[in-house]
Amino acid sequence: MKKIKDLGDLNQKIVLLRVDLNVPLKNEKVLDATRINKVIPTISHLLEQNAKIIIITHIGRPKGRNINKLSLKPICHYLKHELKIKIKLITQDLKNLNKNNIFNNKDEKIILLENIRFYPEEESDDVEFAKKLANLGDIYVNEAFSCSHRAHASVSKITKFIPSYGGLHLSNEIDALNQITHNIEKPVSCIVGGSKISTKIKVITNLAKKYNNIIIVGAMANNFIKYNNHSIGKSIFEKDSDLIVKEIYDSAKLNNCKIICPTDFSVGKNLTDISNNKKIDEIESDDLILDIGLETIKFIKNIINNSKTILWNGPAGYFENENFAKGSYEIAKEISFRTKNNKLFSVIGGGDTVAVLNKLNLINNFSFVSTAGGAFLEYLEGKELPGIKSLN
Ligand code: 3PG
Repeated sequence: MKKIKDLGDLNQKIVLLRVDLNVPLKNEKVLDATRINKVIPTISHLLEQNAKIIIITHIGRPKGRNINKLSLKPICHYLKHELKIKIKLITQDLKNLNKNNIFNNKDEKIILLENIRFYPEEESDDVEFAKKLANLGDIYVNEAFSCSHRAHASVSKITKFIPSYGGLHLSNEIDALNQITHNIEKPVSCIVGGSKISTKIKVITNLAKKYNNIIIVGAMANNFIKYNNHSIGKSIFEKDSDLIVKEIYDSAKLNNCKIICPTDFSVGKNLTDISNNKKIDEIESDDLILDIGLETIKFIKNIINNSKTILWNGPAGYFENENFAKGSYEIAKEISFRTKNNKLFSVIGGGDTVAVLNKLNLINNFSFVSTAGGAFLEYLEGKELPGIKSLN
């Protein structure tokens, strides 16, 4: 993959910069700017190299329609404020734009194209549309790992028509993911949580081929507890998950990978309750399992201490209520401590897990934190992502 960090002065060349600024908005305000803040170093780097930049991004799923509440106006406003530079938001049909008049004067350096998914041709991966986009610039940069699993015009097809490069952050993300999928320093353990086992089965069975330990936490673990004939009270579980759990156990056995489930829990009678630590055989019919218990936390910390590489995706409990946040917090603190002391290579991914790190103000204490959701999981499943494949 060619990388922009290897390019020198860009001498007023127009860079088409595909980023993923798909951030939550409310009343025209950015609610979480993590993804925007992450691309600011790339924009600054390109400006330092004397480039002119056309930023391309999507937000939401407008399905080819122009939907006012999915306009990039709030994002344009945020970027202008952060970069302290004029940014023009182009709302006119980009099919009427042309490379020679897109930047009106010498001082204009950044242009933001309105939500690219307002055009149906984006998601249908239309060749003419990709060509039209490519013709607006001199080089293309993909700085959007989190939507590189989409075969969309501005993500992959465009690379057929213009010299294309991986962004600063994208290459870091791929390097980090390589270290947890290919060039792994062992022992390696994965902590996987969250609620739906069906969304992570392919990740778990793929990782089981290479990992020493897979630790199941969060509501996902309820399916394993139930499968092993223990009561989970009125806790959530996924219908028909037995086959999935069996497949995971079978694949782990075949590959000599240990599947580790909680042996005690923090339970409540409802989501706003205080916590009560119970062993696996003490769960009552009106109990809700809302976090891993103290003995399990100790056990997991021990595995973290004996690992050289850790991947963590999905919280250990219902951390929205502080009474059930201990499991996630203790895991975060232990991984952070070991990483800071150069004892561990750690990759953390998934929106809720990142929210845990933000709550503890630990976001900068890991080897790599990914803001990608679907793309992160598809990469871990071993799939080839169209946006990355086209750069290679
Ligand atoms: C994301 O938020 O994961 C990416 O922007 C991809 O969004 P999508 O799932 O709507 O394609």
